[in-house]
Amino acid sequence: WSCVAIERERTLAMIKPDGLSGNYTERIKEVILESGFDIVKEAVVQLDAERASLFYAEHSGRSFFDSLVKYMTSGPVLVMILERPDAISHWRVLIGPTDARKAKISNPNSIRAMCGVDSEKNCVHGSDSPQSAAREISFFFGDVRSDNADTVEHDEL
Ligand code: PPS
Repeated sequence: WSCVAIERERTLAMIKPDGLSGNYTERIKEVILESGFDIVKEAVVQLDAERASLFYAEHSGRSFFDSLVKYMTSGPVLVMILERPDAISHWRVLIGPTDARKAKISNPNSIRAMCGVDSEKNCVHGSDSPQSAAREISFFFGDVRSDNADTVEHDEL
């Protein structure tokens, strides 16, 4: 017989201010673990306008940008590095579409259907590509490539 190693992948997941203040964290973490992810690292972070603008820099030209930055600085967020095979697309499927109103109709079992309100207050974020995942993980956690994925660490940032 032969043994094929399945390559694991990391993504950056975030529970946004409305998700944290609405006490959805424990339920979301249950879904994460039931779905075969490891939580490699996690941190509660209060973003200021400069950091939030930097995180969402690719959307700086969009009409909703100022509102998005204001919302993302309205309270703390929980950021997590999640790991499993195909983590980026798997997490995007689990969270559902950007607009939580649509999620409630088309993806009623998704996380955004559970705890989101609209396109801004949509409860959770997920990296949309390997490039975004690498950038977003290092944005919050620095260089973690050599970390042991079996260890769950809790950082205070
Ligand atoms: S995506 O996931 O990039 O395809 O979605 P997109 O529609 O491009 O949205 C990118 C992020 O912008 C937020 N967003 C909004 N904020 C405030 N108001 C409005 N109308 C709005 N539309 C989109 C959306 O929550 C996305 O944030 P993240 O954290 O990437 O999910």
